[in-house]
Amino acid sequence: MTDSDKELSPENQIEAARKAFEQEFERFARFTGDSSTLAGLDLETAVAEERALGELRTRHTGKKSVLAATKKLIGRVAPEQRAGFGQLVQSTEAALVQSLDLAEQTLKNYITDERTARESIDVTLPGRRPRRGHRHPITLMRERLEDIFVSLGYVIEDGREIETDFYNFTALNIPENHPACGKADTFYTTDGFALRSQTSTVQIHAMQRRGVPVRMIAPGRVFRRDTPDPTHNPMFFQVEGLCVDRGITMAHLKGTVGELLRRMFGPDTVTRFRPSYFPFTEPSAEFDFSCFKCKGSGCRICKNSGWIELGGSGMVHPNVLRVVGADPQEYSGFAFGFGIDRMCGLMYELDDIRLLFENDVRFLEKFE
Ligand code: DAH
Repeated sequence: MTDSDKELSPENQIEAARKAFEQEFERFARFTGDSSTLAGLDLETAVAEERALGELRTRHTGKKSVLAATKKLIGRVAPEQRAGFGQLVQSTEAALVQSLDLAEQTLKNYITDERTARESIDVTLPGRRPRRGHRHPITLMRERLEDIFVSLGYVIEDGREIETDFYNFTALNIPENHPACGKADTFYTTDGFALRSQTSTVQIHAMQRRGVPVRMIAPGRVFRRDTPDPTHNPMFFQVEGLCVDRGITMAHLKGTVGELLRRMFGPDTVTRFRPSYFPFTEPSAEFDFSCFKCKGSGCRICKNSGWIELGGSGMVHPNVLRVVGADPQEYSGFAFGFGIDRMCGLMYELDDIRLLFENDVRFLEKFE
C-alpha cells in the first residue's frame, strides 16, 4: 500500500479529521477542566473565544466538514466492514461534540457570571435623595390671598393675558387718548391685541359672565413697558378684587381691605385711604397700611414714613356697571387692585423684586 492509498482509506480519513480537530481544539482544552482555569479571563476575551469555538464547531462537525464527508462513505465500504466503520464515525463524532459542548458550556457559564457580577448593585450603598421642588414665593403668596378671600365668600376668576382694547381700556372707562393706551406703556401684538396692563380687565369678564351681584378676586400676570429696576419688572402679578351688590358702600371697601391686611400683616395693622384717581372708580383711593416692621415709628421698609403704599381702589364707576348691563341706580360696588410681587417683596424684605423672576434656585429654595 502506498501512502496515498492509506490517506484515501476511510479509516484514515476519520483519523485525519480527528487529529485536525484536536490540534485546533487544543487552545480551548483549558475550558474543559474545572472553571478555575478561567480565573482572570476578561469578559471580552471570553466572548471572543466563545465565537471562535462556534466557528470551530461548524468547521469540524458542520455539513461541509471532513467528518460529514466520511459519513457519506459508510455506504461504500465493504459490507463486512460497514458496521465497524459506521461505529467509528459515530464515536469520533460523539467525542468531538462532547469536547465542544463541554468547552462551550464552561465559557457560557463564565460569561453569564461575569456579566452578572458587572451589573450587580451594592444595595447597601446609601441612596441619592432626589431634589424636591416647591412652589414659587409668588404662588405661595397668591394662595394665601386666595384663601383669605375664599373665606370671605369671594370666587376666584382666571382672566386672559391678551386682551382687546375694549377690555383693557374702553370698558374700564379709560378714554382713548389716555396715556396708558399708548404704545409707550402697553405691549401690543402685531394683530393689535394688548397684553393686559392690569387685572382690572377681569372685572368686565366676570360681570359679563356671572352678572351681578358678584364677589370675585382675579390674581394674574400683567405686562407693562417698564425698564427693569429693583422695584419694576415688565411682567408682574396683581390681584384684582370686585364686589358688586345692592347697597355696597365705601365702608365695605375699607372693611374688606382692612381685614385682608390684618390677616396678612397682623391684627394691629392699620389701613389708610388717600384720595386718588382711576378712570374706572369714582371716588377713587389709594390705600396704605401701617408698617409691619416698625409699627409706625419709621424704618427702612416704610422709608421712615410709618406707612407702606400698596394699591388702588374705589367705588365702581357707573359707566363700568353700564357696560356690562348692570343698573347703577340699583347696584353699586367697590374694586381694588395691588401687586402680589410687591407684597412678596415687602413681606420677605427683598431688596430687588427682580429676584422673583430670575429663577435662581439658591434664592427660591429659601421659601419652602
Ligand atoms: N388697576 C390699577 C393699577 O394697576 C389698580 C386699581 C386701582 C385696581 C383701582 C382697581 C381699582 O380695581 O379700583 O394700578
